[in-house]
Amino acid sequence: QTLSERSISAVAHLITSGKVRRIVVMTGAGISTAAGIPDFRSPDTGLYANLASLDLPEPEAVFDLSFFRENPKPFYVLAKELYPGNYHPTISHAFISLLASKKLLHQLFTQNIDCLERAAGIPEDLIIEAHGSFATQRCVDCKTPYDDDKMRDHIRRGDVPRCEAKQNDIDCVCGGLVKPDIVFFGEQLPKAFFDRITKAEEADLVLVLGTSLQVHPFASLPNLAPDHVPRVLFNMERVGTMGSQADDVLVLGECDGGVRKLADALGWREELERKWRD
Ligand code: OAD
Ligand code: ZN
Repeated sequence: QTLSERSISAVAHLITSGKVRRIVVMTGAGISTAAGIPDFRSPDTGLYANLASLDLPEPEAVFDLSFFRENPKPFYVLAKELYPGNYHPTISHAFISLLASKKLLHQLFTQNIDCLERAAGIPEDLIIEAHGSFATQRCVDCKTPYDDDKMRDHIRRGDVPRCEAKQNDIDCVCGGLVKPDIVFFGEQLPKAFFDRITKAEEADLVLVLGTSLQVHPFASLPNLAPDHVPRVLFNMERVGTMGSQADDVLVLGECDGGVRKLADALGWREELERKWRD
């Protein structure tokens, strides 16, 4: 047995013995790559490595509010690729959903904007979309919400939607840029994120999956649980402070594989595969 396999069974035992009841899960783009959605920072396959054709000052500019105001086109080229609809949840999503059905999920914090958590059946009140999502959109100037169906059409065509709100009582439309309610660099995270931060402090087990932990304030969430609380990382690489505490467990490699190992150790494997297929 490798060390990480022994550790996985130790984590499983904490759960099956009932010692752990408030699992807090933190996720990033790595849990959706198996669904066919690229992550951001992987060297060859990540979006930031493949934005050269968009002529950006730096890759992150695609999510920068002041850049967007001047040049919204690159974001809409990307949005066409990232837009939810054609993708299915992964085993990792199904595992989080299984935790929820077993009343063990205290809170999920996700950085993902693909809405696959909802698609996996995780109850909405247990999901914090820390970086927003494509579910709603509004004008960056007057903040008027924009129609969902029209938005879908624009994104499919890859062109930029403009606000149609009437200004005052004259027949003049706003014309401002419409942007999905995704948190861009330079914008505040949703209020719900800050409201639920206490959930991260209440965790008795922390699971971190598929994130480089490079974007703050999300990146500091795994540090909010008390020091004695075990933290498990399912990721291709070691990230953030994961691995620095005595009870940290690193499960390096594809997160779906790591999650299947944990499900095996829990005796939940069949149930998990069934949930994933349904
Ligand atoms: P990143 O692309 O920064 O990191 C993804 C992490 O997942 C990396 O450490 C990968 O090695 C790992 N990974 C990829 N595929 C994996 C797999 N199948 N199994 C396990 N690990 C895998 O993505 P995030 O951390 O989510 O902001 O990025 C954070 C934020 O930066 C995003 O929310 C985005 C971006 O700017 C917005 O969308 C507003
Ligand atoms: Zn407007």
